[in-house]
Amino acid sequence: MNIPITKPVLDDAEIQAITKPLLSGWLVQGPYVAQFEKLFAEFSGARFAKATTSCTSALHLALDALGIKRGDQVIVPAFTYIASANAVEYTGAEVVFCDIFLKTFNIAPNKLEAILKTDKQRRIKAVMPVDLFGLCADMPRIMELARRYDLKVIEDAACGFAARIGDKHAGTFGDAGCFSFHPRKVITTGEGGMLITNNEALANKVASLRDHGASKSDLQRHKEQGGSLLPEFNIKGYNYRMTDFQGALGVSQLKKAAYIVNKRREIACRYNVALKDVKGLITPYVPEGYTHGYQSYVCLFTGDENLSRLSKKLIDKLNISRNQFMKELAAKGVSTRQGTHAVHSLGYYQKKYNLNDEGYPAAYAADRLSVTLPLYAEMTDEEFGYVIENVRVALIKAVKL
Ligand SMILES: Cc1ncc(COP(=O)(O)O)c(C=O)c1O
Repeated sequence: MNIPITKPVLDDAEIQAITKPLLSGWLVQGPYVAQFEKLFAEFSGARFAKATTSCTSALHLALDALGIKRGDQVIVPAFTYIASANAVEYTGAEVVFCDIFLKTFNIAPNKLEAILKTDKQRRIKAVMPVDLFGLCADMPRIMELARRYDLKVIEDAACGFAARIGDKHAGTFGDAGCFSFHPRKVITTGEGGMLITNNEALANKVASLRDHGASKSDLQRHKEQGGSLLPEFNIKGYNYRMTDFQGALGVSQLKKAAYIVNKRREIACRYNVALKDVKGLITPYVPEGYTHGYQSYVCLFTGDENLSRLSKKLIDKLNISRNQFMKELAAKGVSTRQGTHAVHSLGYYQKKYNLNDEGYPAAYAADRLSVTLPLYAEMTDEEFGYVIENVRVALIKAVKL
């Protein structure tokens, strides 16, 4: 049996949806992108939603529109996808990595506060909490710190679709929240992203920046009298526009979002139950009041060790067993992945900022010990049973190494 790490839910509805803009001849950002934005704003509860080419470009736009520039510093969790940090680098600002809380894989507010306290020159202008794997970061505490230290907050909600704290959706806590529609995410447009905000001026600026800084969009211009006159360009912008067939795909995916999210949650619950008494894997933690979006189901591999002491020696030893565990599963056709990276240890960042692993012990542990299990809405009972059976066998083999 071959079990992929994920599989988007795409059927006739998506094929019909993308055909419409193709047949209409209007392929670039147009009416379907506008409809996708409207529905996404409704789904998330944000006042404004602006579609982009990716979450990375949405993060770049948010930082740029909020005035982040060379000479500034932005705090990013040390355990995240490299895109979070790259978006900061595009602005010329510097990345300051902050360690995470291993239990949630998200930025640790106490460590964030410790960094802010030492920022005597007040160069840190923003923080980018990440809602990793579909669990919101501790946004109430982060917002409190942001108010105290006068920081902009750009939420990297790439994985945050359908994640909530109370009834507040991911991406709605700070100045802006950015989502990804890469096929590894809960809903997909191939590549694609969305920026949400409650700030009208920011939304308008982002709309212009994604379109080379144009004073109005092509669609607006075509709808108006005098469409032959080009718009004004008074700011430096980018081409981060989503195509209209991606917009149509997004609309179709949003219509089935409740089905996809519920199925994913159901499977995550089944994993929680099936792995409850299995020694060696810690299943995803969900703090009280939080709703997990389960973009990924990421466990922590502990083997037969107690992780209360996070020594590098112990982590490195367990890392060998974790890798063996993933290899055993791959041999049985079950895909797994390391959760994501400890970005501080990736070549570019390690060299540029001269960073070492000792400064980020939890991110280091998460990098070396996280394991993503397959999760997709249309996983069958048979596939689920096969994964669990093989996880148990692979764990026993790996721990005995
Ligand atoms: C946490 C995080 N941030 C940013 C991104 C970048 O998203 P995109 O591929 O849409 O640019 C991803 C994608 O995997 C991600 O997981």
